[in-house]
Amino acid sequence: MHDAQAMVLSSSPRSGGNSDLAAELFARGIERAGGQCRVLHLRDFVVRPCIGCHFCARDEQSRCILSPDTGKEKDSDDQTDEVFSLLSQARFIALSAPIYFYHLPAGFKALIDRAQRFYAAREKGVAPPRKAGTGYSILVAGRTRGEQLFAGSVLTLKYFLEPQGFSMAEPLLLRGLDAQSDLKQSPEASAQVEEYGHMAWVSSLR
Ligand SMILES: Cc1cc2nc3c(=O)[nH]c(=O)nc-3n(C[C@H](O)[C@H](O)[C@H](O)COP(=O)(O)O)c2cc1C
Repeated sequence: MHDAQAMVLSSSPRSGGNSDLAAELFARGIERAGGQCRVLHLRDFVVRPCIGCHFCARDEQSRCILSPDTGKEKDSDDQTDEVFSLLSQARFIALSAPIYFYHLPAGFKALIDRAQRFYAAREKGVAPPRKAGTGYSILVAGRTRGEQLFAGSVLTLKYFLEPQGFSMAEPLLLRGLDAQSDLKQSPEASAQVEEYGHMAWVSSLR
């Protein structure tokens, strides 16, 4: 049973920038369609990077050694499970993030690597934490050009979402938004993001 609301996770380390506004606009589009959406900021959570120990592959429940509930790491402040749990309860999710060096920012990549436990679970034949849902994404890049600007990120997001039970929807890719308030100053791009949220909610009702 999924929560009635959608969830959008903004993953820029820069507070009040383009990814944050994109998350708000996506939520606004959902609300305009009669839905509800909660906005989360990844920088508000402690997400420690994967240490490549393969504990998740050996553990029956595919838990992560860094997760406080394994009891392996005393006084762990890691909140990654909380983020994954919130995402798994949503009606559908969206991820908004900037492009950093042709990929996703380090903090977001840390979360992505921590999803290895879902991959490990799937290898053991365990079902994903939720029934198939949709994963939307909004990627913001400063540059206006570059054929492959989003290619690596889109591929990574597809394989991040899949083992968690999300199939990736066509992403919204925005170029030429660099300064903190560039999206705010672009009514066209802002409308595009809001429409993307509206469409996501309407599609979830079908
Ligand atoms: C470390 C760093 C690396 C970046 N790398 C790229 C890049 O490879 N291509 C690009 O188009 N923009 C790049 N940018 C620009 C950001 O994508 C752009 O400023 C974006 O609007 C930031 O989104 P935000 O406001 O949500 O943080 C980079 C910015 C930073 C700080």
